[in-house]
Amino acid sequence: MTSDQDVPSPIDFHDPSQARQWVETAIARRPARPAFFAAFVAALQAGLPAAAAVLELGSGAGLLAAPLLAQVPAIARYDLLDFAAPMHALARERLAVFGARTCHLVRDFKRSDWTEGLGGYHAVLTMQAVHEVRHKGHVAALYAQVLPLLEPGGVFLVCDHYAGGPVRDMHPELFFTRDEQPLALRAAGFTRVEPLLERDEMSLYRAATPV
Ligand SMILES: C[S@@+](CC[C@H](N)C(=O)[O-])C[C@H]1O[C@@H](n2cnc3c(N)ncnc32)[C@H](O)[C@@H]1O
Repeated sequence: MTSDQDVPSPIDFHDPSQARQWVETAIARRPARPAFFAAFVAALQAGLPAAAAVLELGSGAGLLAAPLLAQVPAIARYDLLDFAAPMHALARERLAVFGARTCHLVRDFKRSDWTEGLGGYHAVLTMQAVHEVRHKGHVAALYAQVLPLLEPGGVFLVCDHYAGGPVRDMHPELFFTRDEQPLALRAAGFTRVEPLLERDEMSLYRAATPV
């Protein structure tokens, strides 16, 4: 039986010790994360104009931002959006060397006004964070808010777990199935939706805004 109730989070990312613990165990729990980082890098090396602006949703401790800032020189500005101050603190430490290209936004993407003042991005990225809306029924609203933040032809790179895979029993109300992710992106108005990588019951999709 399915429910439309939000699924409570097992982690309090606002608690510094829980945030640090998540970061320290992230790769052990998901050994394919480095392969996903590499796929994000390849997608942006191929697909960004010079002096590009990028936004990451649920940016955590900057684990994805670090390889992107190091390996994609076209990124002139990288906005890290996360609601948890301890995650921003860890990201500031990790990304200190890239300080001139980063901007930290403490915002909650479950709020209706989280996009206020934002826009003009050439790419919006997210990894293991879309499910933090805490029910897959809220994802359509999130994707609809992302679309107008992007320049025409801009790309949305979305990586998250999916439900219904053979190994892990991912929560069916929190996560899309493999088929639902591309459908949700197209329904939000994105075009050229294509899978870039699938491993560890996570998938990375690229979608574009209409030109
Ligand atoms: C599972 S972690 C993933 C972090 C990062 N994307 C990575 O892959 O290393 C989820 C992140 O989303 C953030 N988050 C959760 N709910 C959020 C919300 N409603 N608004 C903004 N950030 C949120 C958390 O603070 C945390 O940093």
